[in-house]
Amino acid sequence: MRQLNIEVKENAYPIYIEDDILFHLSFYIQQIYSHKKIYIITDDIVEKLYLNVIQNSLKEYEVESVIVPHGEASKSIEMYTKVIQELLDKDIRRNELLLSLGGGVIGDLCGFVAATLYRGLPYVNVPTSLLSQMDSSIGGKTGIDFSCRKNIIGCFKQPSMVLIDPKVLHTLPKREWNNGMGELIKHAVIGNPKLLEALKSKPAIEEEMIYQSLCVKKEVVEKDVFDTKERMLLNFGHTFGHAIELEKNLKHGEAVGLGMLMVLRFGIDLGITPIACYDEVKEILKLYELPFEEPEYKTYLKEIAKDKKNLAGTIQVVLLKNIGNAYLYPLKESNLKELIK
Ligand SMILES: NC(=O)c1ccc[n+]([C@@H]2O[C@H](COP(=O)([O-])OP(=O)(O)OC[C@H]3O[C@@H](n4cnc5c(N)ncnc54)[C@H](O)[C@@H]3O)[C@@H](O)[C@H]2O)c1
Ligand SMILES: [Zn+2]
Repeated sequence: MRQLNIEVKENAYPIYIEDDILFHLSFYIQQIYSHKKIYIITDDIVEKLYLNVIQNSLKEYEVESVIVPHGEASKSIEMYTKVIQELLDKDIRRNELLLSLGGGVIGDLCGFVAATLYRGLPYVNVPTSLLSQMDSSIGGKTGIDFSCRKNIIGCFKQPSMVLIDPKVLHTLPKREWNNGMGELIKHAVIGNPKLLEALKSKPAIEEEMIYQSLCVKKEVVEKDVFDTKERMLLNFGHTFGHAIELEKNLKHGEAVGLGMLMVLRFGIDLGITPIACYDEVKEILKLYELPFEEPEYKTYLKEIAKDKKNLAGTIQVVLLKNIGNAYLYPLKESNLKELIK
């Protein structure tokens, strides 16, 4: 069992990582919650796999559940109001507990409901995808998509507790696994050389790799709760990753993997990143069967150059000086023109 505590402003909450923790949820939840009803929000896939187990492990409580369709489309204003309506129909009261059971979609949606219904309810996060276990379940970002823009409505709301069962990852489809693995490798590269070393012996121990990955996120989140400075380092690989994600029909984490290679090349050309870093990251991506043949970054720099919105200011690109040492490089219009000549 691994535990870590997140301390942000006046909020502090524990994260427990343990195989089969799903069978012991009451033991942990009793430490923070004394009422008798719990409202689970989950999606239709996770419901079929795990809702029974969870209901059994919460026998001491009266449990209600709200099921939404799986997938990003559920992070919508319509689904948000539908969930709130169902909770009100089930007679949810102030101070009763929500429990998010699922991947990042459910975590973001449930967190936003918890932040806003009755001006705020407590919620426990039980993340079930690799991405949500190693990343999105901590840090307090919640929200929904709107008008074709991701995460545009939302707020910061910290969970009361996060309970992670790595064993549930065994039912995760391969591409969903890859999606999380891309971001996990990113955490290792920007902030945890020890984790990168551990990943070299495959298969890595899941409990340990999730713990080490969360340690990286914990550090930046605690320094920069509202995402204005240090937290931007988590965008490593995202400048180019975002540019190729839709175009190449990749999962976000797969695109971030290639985006890392592209920005490492960029750093090499600028004389900032050692070539050995590029080789090391490429080997890890190969080992975990993620895409590893990156497009030429200059083509995409040109696109960035064409984007007037970006040129209005300086673009902050996260570059790597070495494994575990990332920093924000201000890319100005003048050097951009020079670089893509
Ligand atoms: N709040 C944050 O800090 C933060 C950070 C990164 C990403 N996000 C958000 O997270 C979302 C992506 O999260 P995700 O990748 O977990 O997507 P997801 O929630 O859609 O889950 C991916 C798929 O896996 C299924 N699934 C989940 N757990 C499973 C399991 N144990 N076994 C079998 N199937 C399972 C789900 O039903 C879904 O179909 C995006 O909306 C993104 O914006 C939020
Ligand atoms: Zn990302």
